[in-house]
Formats: sequence, C-alpha cells, structure tokens
Amino acid sequence: MLASPSLAVVAALLASFVNGHPPGSSLPDIGNSTNVCQHISRAISSKSDVYYPTSGLAYMKDISHWASSSAQQAACSVEPGTAEDLGRILQILGETKTPFGVKGGGHATNPGFSSSPGILIALYRFNEATYHPDSQTATIGSGLICDDAYGLLEPYNVSVLAGRVSGIGMAGFILGGGYSWKTNQHGLALDSVVAFELVMPNGRVVTVTETSDAELFFGLKGGFNNFGIVTRFTMKAYPQTAVWGGSITYLASSIPDITSAVLKFSSTVTDPKASMITTYGYTDAQALVTQLLFYDGPSPPSGIFDDFMNIPAVMRDVSERSILSLVQSAPSNTSAGQRGAFHTVPVLKYTPNLLQTIINETTYWGQRLSTQSEFLIAYSIEPFLPEILSFNDSPSAYPPDRSQAFLPLNLYLAWSLETFDDEYFDAIRESAAYIRSVAISEGLSTPDAPKYPNYALFDTPLRDMYGDNVARLKDIRSRVDPHDVMGLAGGFKF
Ligand SMILES: Cc1cc2nc3c(=O)[nH]c(=O)nc-3n(C[C@H](O)[C@H](O)[C@H](O)COP(=O)(O)OP(=O)(O)OC[C@H]3O[C@@H](n4cnc5c(N)ncnc54)[C@H](O)[C@@H]3O)c2cc1C
Ligand SMILES: *[C@@H]1O[C@H](CO)[C@@H](O)[C@H](O)[C@H]1NC(C)=O
Ligand SMILES: *[C@@H]1O[C@H](CO)[C@@H](O)[C@H](O)[C@H]1NC(C)=O
Ligand SMILES: *[C@@H]1O[C@H](CO)[C@@H](O)[C@H](O)[C@H]1NC(C)=O
Ligand SMILES: *[C@@H]1O[C@H](CO)[C@@H](O)[C@H](O)[C@H]1NC(C)=O
Repeated sequence: MLASPSLAVVAALLASFVNGHPPGSSLPDIGNSTNVCQHISRAISSKSDVYYPTSGLAYMKDISHWASSSAQQAACSVEPGTAEDLGRILQILGETKTPFGVKGGGHATNPGFSSSPGILIALYRFNEATYHPDSQTATIGSGLICDDAYGLLEPYNVSVLAGRVSGIGMAGFILGGGYSWKTNQHGLALDSVVAFELVMPNGRVVTVTETSDAELFFGLKGGFNNFGIVTRFTMKAYPQTAVWGGSITYLASSIPDITSAVLKFSSTVTDPKASMITTYGYTDAQALVTQLLFYDGPSPPSGIFDDFMNIPAVMRDVSERSILSLVQSAPSNTSAGQRGAFHTVPVLKYTPNLLQTIINETTYWGQRLSTQSEFLIAYSIEPFLPEILSFNDSPSAYPPDRSQAFLPLNLYLAWSLETFDDEYFDAIRESAAYIRSVAISEGLSTPDAPKYPNYALFDTPLRDMYGDNVARLKDIRSRVDPHDVMGLAGGFKF
C-alpha cells in the first residue's frame, strides 16, 4: 500500500519514467484510485466494464468472497472481457502504481490475497469451457468455479481435475496445487495443465507451455499471481461416468467408530477410484463429524466404504449421481460469509495417536474460543495414495520435492466478529504448530515437509511451501516482472 501521498507521487513518476512514459497530463492523479478507475474505463473495449460502489449488484458480486474476512471495499471493480483489455488494465495499474487485487472464485481464506482497497480485477468474464476431443483436453476460463467446469463438460462425459466441494474458483485451485476427487488417479490439478494463457505484468498476452518457456511453466504451477494473470487453462480432460458418494453427518458419540474407519481406509484402501474427506468439527458447544465419500464409478466395490455407511448418522446423502451433484452435496456453503482462516500440517500418514491429537484440538479450541464469536472449528483428514506425485515428471513450484507425497491436513476456524481476528489467527498458528510437533515426534512429518500453499496461513514463510525452489522462483519473477507490477497485488510473493 502507498505509504504517503508524496512518496506515492515520487514512486509513480519513477515508474512512469522506467516504463518509458514521460510524466504528463495523460496520467491520472497518482494515489487516487478512483481516477485510475476512470482512466481504465476510457482505455478498455466495450467487452469490459468498471463498477463503482454505487453500481449495485455487479460491484457487490465482484468484491465478495467466501470468507467475509477476505473481502475489502475497493475503489472500483473491473471485469475484463478480453485478455487484451486485461493487458491494458495491468499496464495502467503498473504505471500508476495502484494497488489491486486479482479474484478468480474468491475462495482465498487469507485477507488481502484476492482483494484490495484499490482496484479489484474480477475474472468472471473468462467463462469458457471447451472440450477438444482430438487432444482430450479442455480449455477452462479462469473466471469459472468448479461447479461450472463440471457442469459444462458433463455433456461430453469428461471432467477436469477440479474442487471437491461447491464454489471453489478454478484459477486459485489450479495455480496453488489442486487436490481433487480424482487426484489418486491423475495427480494434482497443476500436473494436468498443458498450457496457460497469461497476461504478463507488462500487458503482453502469451501462451505458456513446457516448450515455449519451461521456467515460467514451472513457476505458474504453484506460483499464483506472481507472474501475471492467467485467463485460460488448457487441461487434460478425463472420461467421466456417473459417480457414487456424497455426504454424511455423525454425532460425537460415533467418533471412535469413525476414527477406526478412517484408519482402516487410509492404511488399506489402494483402489485409486476411492477417495474421502473426514472433517472433525466443533460447533454450538458440540463435536460432530462430516464425512464425504467418493467413488469414480456408479457403485463402489463392497468393503471400501461399508464401515462409514454402517455407522448411525443424523444426515446421509449418498447415492449414484453426477460428479457435479456429488460436489454440490457437501455442506460447504454453511459457513460462507463468516470470517475464516485456513492453515495446514503436512503429514505422511495417519495413526491413532495423531487422529486423537487432531480431535482433541478441535474440542480444545472449540471450548476455548466459544466466548469469542466462534462459529465453527473444522479439521479435515484428506488421505491420498503415496503415488499421487508420480503422474507427471515435470517439476512444479509446489511441491518442491516429488519423492514423497505429504497429505495436506486442513485446519479451518470460522468466526463472526472482526474484533476477534487476531485471536483466531493466533489460535490457528498455535494449533497447527502443536499438531506439527506431535507429527514430527512420531516420524509422520519432517521439519522441511512442504505446506500446501492453498491452505497455508498468510504469514507462512515461502520456504515452508516452496522449499529449495524459492531462489529459482525469485529468478523467474525478476525476469518476468522486473518492475514489480504484481507486487501491487496481494498474495504470497517471490
Ligand atoms: C470451502 C473450500 C473448499 C476447498 N476445497 C479444496 C479442495 O478440495 N482442494 C484443494 O486443493 N483446495 C481446496 N480449497 C482451497 C482452494 O483451492 C483455494 O482457496 C483456492 O486458491 C481458491 O481459488 P479461487 O480462485 O476461488 O480463489 P481467489 O481468492 O480468487 O484467488 C486465490 C489466489 O489466486 C490468485 N489468482 C486467482 N485467479 C488468478 C488468475 N487468473 N491468475 C493469477 N492469479 C490468480 C489470487 O490473486 C489469490 O492470490 C478449498 C477452499 C475452500 C474455501
Ligand atoms: C479522487 O478523485 C475523485 C474524482 O476526481 C474525487 O471525487 C475524489 O475526491 C478524489 N479522492 C481523493 C482521496 O483525493
Ligand atoms: C454420455 O454418456 C451417456 C450415458 O452413458 C450416453 O447416453 C451419452 O450418449 C454419452 N454422450 C457422449 C457425448 O458420449
Ligand atoms: C455455493 O456458493 C456458490 C457461490 O460462492 C454458488 O455458486 C454455489 O451454487 C453454491 N452451492 C450450493 C450447493 O449451494
Ligand atoms: C489437548 O490439546 C491441548 C492444546 O493443544 C494440549 O495442551 C493437551 O495436552 C491436549 N490433550 C490431550 C489429551 O492430547
């Protein structure tokens, strides 16, 4: 953010000089985002629009986020309709050193990662989903949420690797990693990307592939908005039949049985079509468990999910259905609109003691935070097979080491009032550190095991996610963005 008006003016004059534009009257009043908004609205084509706080619904939609703590009031929002317009917008933002945010699906749980008090770029108009049968790939616009991607590809009986619950943006999901229901069969979403259409920080529109620019291709796979703004992904598309699964809710009394079932599933099931998430939760002064089940076929072989199906449940929505229907059956929108934080612990596998530690954390913090506007505590066990990183030999920013696949345990705290933000950020840090220490002491994690960037809290050091890749990523960054245009946008920065 701009430190003071005079500093901002100096910085902007310097920037305009560096970018080859003499400081002059064609540039808007520096430091006033509203003027920059007006400048942008004159520079873009009729395919794009600028919205102001007075514009109503379009502006509200643009600045909204799944977690209310991730939203900020922007001077204006811009919906670019073409990559070329987005290039012009980035040039103006760079020349005027105007803070901005880049929003795909708005599911970032870190404040300021896809929002800004300056200008919010909302990518909704990049909404295509095209299947190419010859190459068995699909082009996916960066403004789509996973529901759209599943739904638009359904007529072709194919799907791409996308989110496991409703509403997740394809862009952040892919650019940060992407653990999907089909990850056991095909790897991370970033491993299935064949090409990125990228608007570079200097405004140029390029297609980035392994052969066009191997370093940038590597960096984009985990590097979020460090290298510009992606407008389209070309991804591998996989055959998609009807699937089986859905969601189940159990009461606290079933926790011991569920925990046995989780241990058995995660240590014995090797069918790559089977996947599941167990969420130990605490809300309204009681513990509860939400179970998501997935089988990539109309019915699972017997034995795989029987334990989960036999435990008495308070709610069960499990059936043969489309993958879109399964994804939308998960209760992911119940805490939408609350303040929220994610954090993560990388573990190699789950043991009885590690699961007990995790369950204890949910009740411990649930009780401790109950007077501080607590809404929901939810820690998710996401088992995957050890082979998930073997589907692609080509390296990616995340994970930095492909010799071992760490499982991304997800910690999630939701609360209502902004005044408690710091308590919750402290709590989630402390809880993750505690679980990490137990995991390390049991040989289930290591001090340099990488944290999943899409789950890591905002102050996580780059090294903890990208390991030895950090220096290489900084080199790519200084080549691709020498004037630090993307430094004006929030997020983890190389
Ligand atoms: C309810 C819920 C469920 C989730 N489930 C899963 C899951 O099953 N698997 C999983 O792996 N993750 C999951 N996540 C994490 C999710 O992958 C991340 O939150 C992801 O970043 C969301 O992407 P988005 O586009 O919605 O986010 P945004 O908030 O829009 O963006 C996230 C980051 O990416 C940057 N960005 C967005 N679009 C672009 C672009 N086009 N070009 C460059 N940078 C861009 C933003 O600037 C921001 O820094 C879940 C999150 C939530 C809240
Ligand atoms: C920014 O410019 C707009 C339009 O010219 C003006 O209405 C507004 O008061 C200015 N804001 C600041 C903080 O200078
Ligand atoms: C998709 O699968 C359904 C059900 O098997 C079938 O009826 C339909 O013809 C298939 N569509 C295409 C485009 O293959
Ligand atoms: C969840 O919320 C998103 C908006 O973020 C919406 O598009 C989606 O349809 C919702 N899903 C369900 C199942 O209600
Ligand atoms: C429960 O968690 C708290 C907080 O991390 C810890 O101090 C306590 O020792 C844990 N108790 C058990 C039984 O694990």
